[in-house]
Amino acid sequence: MKNWKRVLVLLPAIMMICTVSVFAAPPKTWVVGFSQIGSESEWRTADTISVQNAFNEDLTFNLIYSDAQQKQENQIKALRSFIARKVNCIVFTALVETGYGPVLQEAKKAGIPVIMIDRDVQEADRSLRLTIMGSDFIKEGEKAGTWLADYLKKQGLDDGKKSINIVELQGTTGSAPAIDRKTGFANIMKQHANWQLTRSQTGNFTTSEGKAVMEAFLKADSTIQVLYAHNDGMALGAIQAIKEAGLKPGKDIIVIGVDGVKGAFEAIVAGEQNVTIECSPLLGPQAVQAVTDLRAGKKLPARIWTIEGIFDATNAAAALPSRQY
Ligand code: AHR
Repeated sequence: MKNWKRVLVLLPAIMMICTVSVFAAPPKTWVVGFSQIGSESEWRTADTISVQNAFNEDLTFNLIYSDAQQKQENQIKALRSFIARKVNCIVFTALVETGYGPVLQEAKKAGIPVIMIDRDVQEADRSLRLTIMGSDFIKEGEKAGTWLADYLKKQGLDDGKKSINIVELQGTTGSAPAIDRKTGFANIMKQHANWQLTRSQTGNFTTSEGKAVMEAFLKADSTIQVLYAHNDGMALGAIQAIKEAGLKPGKDIIVIGVDGVKGAFEAIVAGEQNVTIECSPLLGPQAVQAVTDLRAGKKLPARIWTIEGIFDATNAAAALPSRQY
């Protein structure tokens, strides 16, 4: 009886100790391997910084960063080294869509979850990665095409009969955004029998290659009316080429880009680029949230979308001061 009384007296203190130890227990530190593809664009730099900052700000994560410098073999090596180090989770952006099957199988066998950000892989076994977070690249291509149709209509430039000559600067061959942005734009082209894709070549998502390819297009063809570039970096390079050819970008040639980088906003405000379809690189906070949920034992949705806008002469100037990348 005496013992029971003692327990009753001590009960509040015991409960407090238990509560404190349950709630104050810090989450287990997780080691996360992040395999990035390189630094081909202003967009990519913003993306890398966003992911690094978000993980480094949370002291319960230890981030190991690896830059593949645009080489798939470097990425595969990095993934293997993450597996050998037994990291708790891999965050991965795939340079191209295919060729990662075996290494992803190795991660699965080692019980290491893989979260894709930005660019996905095309593997028949979808269980090789837990989720993909980022933009809908097909929708971005469709938005570009729909914007063009509206613009041509408003300007009275498309009678539905006379051909509209379009050139395309593609992103890195085999990458998800290059494949999907092409498909999305082509979906809208199908609705306009007079739109013609007269030239299409890769500019590897870089400003310098965008410029060089556009120079070649302009030398070979004086009938270009529209440039559709798979990113703003290439569009900005092409704008230089158009100017050097003695033409006015944004007027003589309609310029469409994707990403929404500051340089594109400035070009729109200057009247040299007509539109940018936003693709946000600020994926760090979303990635940390997903890994945190995973560590807490929660199930991740198969797809985590990013919400994005369209910026042209009607709204770019107002949005420019608050752009983060
Ligand atoms: O994967 C996203 C694309 O990659 C961005 O549009 C481009 O700028 C980048 O290099």
